Amino acid sequence: MTDSKSQKFVVHRAWRDSFPVIDHAEGIYLYDTEGHRYIDGAAGSSVVVNIGHGVQSVIEAMYQQSQKFCFGAPHLFSNAKQEELGDLVASRAPGSMRNNCRTWFGTTGTDAVDSAIRLARQYFLALEQPSKYAVIARWQGFHGNNIFVSGVHGHTFRRKSYFPMYVNMPHIPPAYCYRCPFELTYPACRLKCARALETMINETGEENVAAFIAEPVVGAALGAVPAPEGYFEVIREICDKHNVLLIVDEVMTAWGRVGYWFGIEHWGVTPDIIATAKGMSSGYTPISSTIAKEAIWQVIEASKVPFLAGHTMNQNPISCAGAIEAIKYVEDHDLLSKSTQIGAYLLKRLNDLVDEFEIVGQARGLGMMCGIEFVQDKKTKEPFDPKLKVSGRFEMECLKRGLSLFQCAGCVEGVAGDMMLVTPPLVITPKQVDELVDIMKQALKVLQAELL
Ligand SMILES: Cc1ncc(COP(=O)(O)O)c(C=O)c1O
Repeated sequence: MTDSKSQKFVVHRAWRDSFPVIDHAEGIYLYDTEGHRYIDGAAGSSVVVNIGHGVQSVIEAMYQQSQKFCFGAPHLFSNAKQEELGDLVASRAPGSMRNNCRTWFGTTGTDAVDSAIRLARQYFLALEQPSKYAVIARWQGFHGNNIFVSGVHGHTFRRKSYFPMYVNMPHIPPAYCYRCPFELTYPACRLKCARALETMINETGEENVAAFIAEPVVGAALGAVPAPEGYFEVIREICDKHNVLLIVDEVMTAWGRVGYWFGIEHWGVTPDIIATAKGMSSGYTPISSTIAKEAIWQVIEASKVPFLAGHTMNQNPISCAGAIEAIKYVEDHDLLSKSTQIGAYLLKRLNDLVDEFEIVGQARGLGMMCGIEFVQDKKTKEPFDPKLKVSGRFEMECLKRGLSLFQCAGCVEGVAGDMMLVTPPLVITPKQVDELVDIMKQALKVLQAELL
């Protein structure tokens, strides 16, 4: 690690003396300046580097584009790479959106979500239904990190500090069978968590609700919890019945991460709007997109008001060039099926940890988006005291041993509950999965001895 003195002019994500400095990376491995090797078990900070590090075709495409030009004013010009990427996205879009949608390119997941919400609002304004503004979301769901979106998402810790500063949108309980908020069991519950949306729309007033937003597999707020079978079908029906747009937040789940181009395909449902980022360029360069059904854009176009969103660096040709190659890499290397197959093996190995360790309560996931949840007591599912910072300590024990993972907390009503996301690049091999799980085992032995 470089010493703390040489790191004193940068604000890092945590107040530590020093951070390892990554020097180079290849495949699933990161190497720091001191020669330590780390498995990138989180694929970037949290579910980003789907295709692994060092893919030359992506680097070369970005280089070629930079040779031509780096940026041109998006309010006056288009660029060939964004047009090509628009075609590529449309040809991969789910269900009836396929080749029947248009895409708005941004830079971060947060701005993709913000733009999705702007789009829903502008759509209803254009239809002369101006009372429709509210976006219903779920507790223990996460949608981004600006102050407005903090009022939408349901990650208690990340919204708390800004509480008086945003519009507090309505929330329904999460689809979280391990700790069902209704204390019911699937399928006898008849998906009460999905039906809660209708209750909330009725209570809020259908005339006030513009959209419902949800992640197909909840990432940072629940540690890889997929919605149960049938959930999004019920949600779709309720949205249609009440003239509410369905936004799916695929910032983590798209581009092969859960075995499909878009995670929502697992439920066979077509949303109205999709927000996505991260794996779109596999982290080689920032890019995000807000994809909506053609019919939605047509309403706005007919109103003659341009789409009222946008940041300076949107529609960036270098990012678009990188994303095109990253998406092609997923296709050419059959990473959708690898995500399903090797993801199933990873989940099996994580389930071995549930059998072996008292403090691992559940392993879960879909495709290569997996996670574990820590408990004090397996039978009662009692979480650890948040003061013990269990997931943070586990993250550090893994890092010491050469594995980078992503800690999550707050699955129990936003205040307690520790989880880890285990989301390596989709190019990981079964042997490398074993290597990753072995490091988790060593870290668990240490942590369990300290905690019990
Ligand atoms: C589901 C989801 N939506 C939105 C975001 C925000 O994306 P970004 O950090 O790129 O702004 C994240 C980030 O982790 C996320 O997981």
